[in-house]
Amino acid sequence: MIQVAVNGYGTIGKRVADAVRAQPDMEVLGVAKTRPNFEAQSALDRGYPLYAAIEDRADQFADAGMEIAGPVTDLVEAADVVVDATPSGIGAKNKAMYDEYATPALYQGGEDANVADVSFNARSNFEDAVDADHVRVVSCNTTGLSRVIAPLQEAYGIEKVRATLVRRGGDPGQTSRGPINDILPNPVTIPSHHGPDVNTIFPDVDIDTLGMKVPATLMHVHSLNVTLSSAVDAADVRDHLADEDRLFLVPESLDIDGAGKLKEYAHDVGRPRGDLWENCIWEESISTEGRDLYLFQAIHQESDVVPENVDAIRAVTGAADAAESIETTNDAMDIGR
Ligand SMILES: NC(=O)c1ccc[n+]([C@@H]2O[C@H](COP(=O)([O-])OP(=O)(O)OC[C@H]3O[C@@H](n4cnc5c(N)ncnc54)[C@H](OP(=O)(O)O)[C@@H]3O)[C@@H](O)[C@H]2O)c1
Repeated sequence: MIQVAVNGYGTIGKRVADAVRAQPDMEVLGVAKTRPNFEAQSALDRGYPLYAAIEDRADQFADAGMEIAGPVTDLVEAADVVVDATPSGIGAKNKAMYDEYATPALYQGGEDANVADVSFNARSNFEDAVDADHVRVVSCNTTGLSRVIAPLQEAYGIEKVRATLVRRGGDPGQTSRGPINDILPNPVTIPSHHGPDVNTIFPDVDIDTLGMKVPATLMHVHSLNVTLSSAVDAADVRDHLADEDRLFLVPESLDIDGAGKLKEYAHDVGRPRGDLWENCIWEESISTEGRDLYLFQAIHQESDVVPENVDAIRAVTGAADAAESIETTNDAMDIGR
């Protein structure tokens, strides 16, 4: 069993811990937090040993009646791999600790690409991360774009990708984030950072991205235009994308008109936390005009990177190849079902 540490038990960390626990070949060795709060309590309730990310704050946990298993350094030392899911910028600061204990580390998309040897998306470049010491699982938006680009590039070739990303202002729990009542070009300069980030996975893909922020917390929505190498029938593209387990083609028959109903649907089908690990592509939006392909997709920012972290764990530990890992992860989490 691969022993996994999760350092940073917030939006991403808690989901990764549960996904790791669901795998047949992995165990959660423990999770680390800087302070006691509802998430620390929920980690203990789920039976995850809780470690103090900042050693001299361990007393705060004791005062709150929460048992601490030790300092995060003990956790990192004992683990086969650590998933760093701390806020942007902290992962880079933690890198020296992971090196000190020679524990391979995964970072999240909020870190700069240069924190790691490899930027990772399981469908696109799993092999690049095999046996790497430092791997960055790319952001929710880059993951969403990469999952579409990979099969399109393989089947048809890509001349140019243009994507407009309508981004949720914050996660549901991020009460400090905005905008409250506004629509922001964000960043106002073009391209947004997403295009260059996609190039960390696909160095040769020509891509321009534009970002906007809106007062929503549920999901991001992408408007995508891909110029393919040759003219393709929309039905052909639909069939091709339907074969991808991490792409959910939302059928017209479900009458899901936006992110709100998608989330409601996820709750109705019993997804934990209402998570949507797959890209949600409106099937009827998949259209072609000659070589130009158009589609709309919704990306659940809090969860699409979670199966990617699980696959990255197998890559850095050499536990499985891409196809085997993706299938095991999908089976264990019921992805694409
Ligand atoms: N949320 C998303 O939509 C999303 C999507 C894709 C990627 N990401 C990326 O994933 C990373 C984590 O984001 P997130 O949304 O999960 O953040 P988050 O919800 O704020 O969770 C981060 C957790 O790390 C803990 N923490 C803070 N400092 C720490 C430290 N020094 N050591 C250990 N734990 C520490 C925080 O809790 P305490 O201080 O209370 O312990 C917090 O619970 C970022 O790089 C982000 O860009 C986020």
